[in-house]
Amino acid sequence: MNRFVFEILPIVFIAIVLVILIFRWKRRRLYELANKIPGQNGLPFIGHLHRLLNPDMKNYCKVIFELCDKNFPLSKGWIGPKFTVLTQDPDTIHAIYNSPHCMNKPTILYNALYTKQGLLSVNGAMYDKHRKIFNRSFKPSILQKLVPVFNQKSLKCMEMLKEQLNKSEFNMYSYTGACSLEAFGTGQLNFEKNFYESDVLNAFEGMKPLMMKKMFRIWLNIEPLYKISRLYKDLQKEYNVLVHFKNQVLKKNLEENLEEKDEIFVKQLMDKKNELSDEEIIDEVVIFLIAGYETSALTLSTILLMLAMHKDIQKKVTDEVDQFFEAEDGMIGSENLQNFPYMELVIKETMRLFTAGGIIARETSEEVNLSGYTVPKGTVLAICAHQMHRNPRFWGSDANEFKPERFNSENIKHINPHAYAPFSGGRRICIGYRYAMMFIKIFLIHFFKNYNVSTSLKFEELEVEMTPTLNIAQGYKIQIQKRS
Ligand code: HEM
Repeated sequence: MNRFVFEILPIVFIAIVLVILIFRWKRRRLYELANKIPGQNGLPFIGHLHRLLNPDMKNYCKVIFELCDKNFPLSKGWIGPKFTVLTQDPDTIHAIYNSPHCMNKPTILYNALYTKQGLLSVNGAMYDKHRKIFNRSFKPSILQKLVPVFNQKSLKCMEMLKEQLNKSEFNMYSYTGACSLEAFGTGQLNFEKNFYESDVLNAFEGMKPLMMKKMFRIWLNIEPLYKISRLYKDLQKEYNVLVHFKNQVLKKNLEENLEEKDEIFVKQLMDKKNELSDEEIIDEVVIFLIAGYETSALTLSTILLMLAMHKDIQKKVTDEVDQFFEAEDGMIGSENLQNFPYMELVIKETMRLFTAGGIIARETSEEVNLSGYTVPKGTVLAICAHQMHRNPRFWGSDANEFKPERFNSENIKHINPHAYAPFSGGRRICIGYRYAMMFIKIFLIHFFKNYNVSTSLKFEELEVEMTPTLNIAQGYKIQIQKRS
């Protein structure tokens, strides 16, 4: 015992001090630059990490928004040893989106999304290769051909919703979720499935809180540690449902000749299967499935909630639908979609206030100048679009109110064009933004031809939670009435 205390312990202590000194010396440039950026350093070694370990999904937002609000245009924080710069400044965000040195996703956080090799997470040359492959599936000529699928799936959802007529409030997200999954499944995966009664939706919803837990438990990036964790087992159970689904999709498409199906997502995947590894294929199917359905379904549910809370605005939307669209069960052509300008304002305003991708991250691959500060290489850039979209500095004193008219051509002239970015921007802008806008509009036209909507939820009470997309914590509880 004495030998341990007097001989071994001092050696261990000196070794630890030496490791810390070498670690800090190697990072001296990082500390030098980090010190010049305003904000708080948090606790020694862990920074603000301890505050992000509470698995309450509202808490993640609270901590990130609070750090982001500390300083303008940049505010610093530390996720353990990872230096982080948060911003809600439109011009800084625009500069990030357009800088070749801010293209990367921070693997330390995006690994938790479970799709390391998918387009949302990949970096460098692999990113360029994947984006080029899948851009083809989202070009306007392909999207035009998906319009009948969007109509057909929206009409099916209108039928399904009949079971909720004259009943109490229900969660609209389970309907928009299944409908969006079916639209993507049929349109881009060439795979018909009834997602209203499928385990895929549940599996993904089950993964959300687990992915969030993993995101800030950054030590779980050490694979052996992660593999023995409880979180791994829980996530794997849900993930296997998605892998099984992917296998079914690929099997079916291998057996079928896709020649006629143009360049839809699954065709691109099959054509390039010799250039992509198995892992890349799995991750692409999973990330496109998730990104394709979840954000659209959340946005749709939020729009319906907003209109349930703002009856005067709902009336203007239904008037517009009645004016330009005849039959309840008819199909909307892509050429008619521009006839709904007021609905477009409603969609934009909803996405401003409740931005599904309201917190996203990039990582600097070089030192980069942002708003007069030199940001070190390897810094996580937290882009707080949610904060930017609600900041009175850019949107006026009524920034937190729901007013679609702020997007009309006259009013929008007075707003900084960089202050609105619900689909991110630059080269990594959402690949599915045109797809989403088309699908959302078609769904809403069918919805308001058939139903009115109401809710007991109050606009002022709504809070957001990070899942990692931003969801409304109170849920999407609405009641529907058949329009006469
Ligand atoms: C209202 C609907 C949507 C919203 C609000 C939305 C928003 C976003 C945002 C903010 C990003 C950047 C995320 C980040 O950098 O971490 C993104 C990326 C992405 N989105 Fe969307 N999205 C929507 C619909 C879709 C759809 C329908 C698809 C596919 C069918 C899709 C596929 C993707 C993919 C693959 C990326 C990664 C793109 C890249 O890094 O090159 N999204 N989306």
